[in-house]
Amino acid sequence: METSRKILVLGSGGSLGSYIMANPDNTNDVLIGYNHKTLDVTNRADVVKTIASEMPNVVINASAYTQVDAAERDRETAFAVNTLGPQYMAEACNMLSIPLVHVSTDYVFGDNNPDGYTEDCESYNPLNIYGETKLLGELAIKDATDNYYIVRTSWLFGKNSKNFLAKVIALAKKTGEVYIVDDEVGCPTYVKDLSKTIYEILDNKMAPGIYHCCSSNSLSRFDFAKEALELMDIHVNMYKTSRFKRDAKVPFVSILKNTKLHMHRTSIEMIVDYLFH
Ligand SMILES: NC(=O)c1ccc[n+]([C@@H]2O[C@H](COP(=O)([O-])OP(=O)(O)OC[C@H]3O[C@@H](n4cnc5c(N)ncnc54)[C@H](OP(=O)(O)O)[C@@H]3O)[C@@H](O)[C@H]2O)c1
Repeated sequence: METSRKILVLGSGGSLGSYIMANPDNTNDVLIGYNHKTLDVTNRADVVKTIASEMPNVVINASAYTQVDAAERDRETAFAVNTLGPQYMAEACNMLSIPLVHVSTDYVFGDNNPDGYTEDCESYNPLNIYGETKLLGELAIKDATDNYYIVRTSWLFGKNSKNFLAKVIALAKKTGEVYIVDDEVGCPTYVKDLSKTIYEILDNKMAPGIYHCCSSNSLSRFDFAKEALELMDIHVNMYKTSRFKRDAKVPFVSILKNTKLHMHRTSIEMIVDYLFH
């Protein structure tokens, strides 16, 4: 019989957090979620008190300040949520000798390396405040505890978020044409695949450290949108464009290489699951 685990999910109202809450790995797990309203992860005392009183077997941090452009104008909040919050969680988890699962981003890198970045690559070069504060969060966790799983992901999309794919599909249906950037290459990730990866790591009691989770292939935003529209039989005029002007700099090529986990699904397999299941 599988043993019961108590899993504390912080940031449970977000795209990943709500997916995890709604899709337990096994029925014996007890999932306790705190969203932004019920726990502000930037409040050290509240974070420590919550983790200590819940006494979970593991904490999953799904909270983050994810507005990449807005972060350029609000470093203080981005730093508090993406760096200090994870630090407080790691300190509390360390006191209880329990693991912290933290989700990070490909934007800790920024060198446009076409070969991608493996888990042990330390050529960090965040191009924006979001990436910088997420990197500082990773480093703060490593300082506070040895019992961490940092799972980096990219181009995350899920059912209840205003993600890139959802916006493209809505626009295509409404206007009959879409303009999509073709000079940004990355690896999409369905929240389901990220959630499964987190459980793969926990269930197999893998070694603490850094893991990468995203599609096994990389492609441009244009091709990503094309895959989804073709699968949905939506025939519209698609135009390739260069980057739109935006507040945050983002890499042109950003590829996370997975060398430690099972092979991840391709973008098309993830899209099919997202659209039709
Ligand atoms: N989305 C992507 O494309 C992407 C790419 C790479 C990595 N990631 C990483 O993947 C993880 C999950 O991302 P996601 O797409 O699920 O993000 P999301 O939908 O934006 O969810 C983040 C959640 O954190 C909450 N939050 C913000 N400030 C908080 C605070 N002070 N205290 C408690 N909760 C707070 C937000 O609440 P409010 O909405 O109320 O503020 C939101 O519910 C994050 O670590 C993110 O950095 C995402």
